[in-house]
Amino acid sequence: KTIYVLNGPNLNLLGTRQPEIYGSDTMADVEANCRALVEPLGFGLKFFQSNAEHQLIDWIHEARNEACGLVINPAAYTHTSVAILDALNTFESPVFEVHISNVHKRESFRHHSYVSLRADGVIAGCGILGYELALRRLVQLVEPA
Ligand code: DQA
Repeated sequence: KTIYVLNGPNLNLLGTRQPEIYGSDTMADVEANCRALVEPLGFGLKFFQSNAEHQLIDWIHEARNEACGLVINPAAYTHTSVAILDALNTFESPVFEVHISNVHKRESFRHHSYVSLRADGVIAGCGILGYELALRRLVQLVEPA
């Protein structure tokens, strides 16, 4: 049982990138929090970040064979990438979309998400806690009590 957590462009700079919007925690902190949540529940975690659209697509393809669910913060590709939507549409297990900031409170170009057409749930504006909220729901769907 493996869960993929994918992160898109510029999120490698989390912690120093516009901390007034994205906070001061880093991607390493996000990864540690995700591991601490799912590993004790018996899930494996693969946690990735890339600035390249094709790399994110390749990981979604890997997830098709390996993952029981996927959490993705596609960052700016949320608003532009039909290719990431198409890749996610080939993935048959639950998909959750996370945004650290409340994209709906920001510029209008952030209000539309291609990924939301596929996502089973969307969390925005909860800071990095959003990843854990998404994972909790994913685990609930994959392993109903
Ligand atoms: C983001 C929101 C996007 O609009 C933006 O391009 C990002 C990060 C978020 O986590 O709030 O890079 O996905």
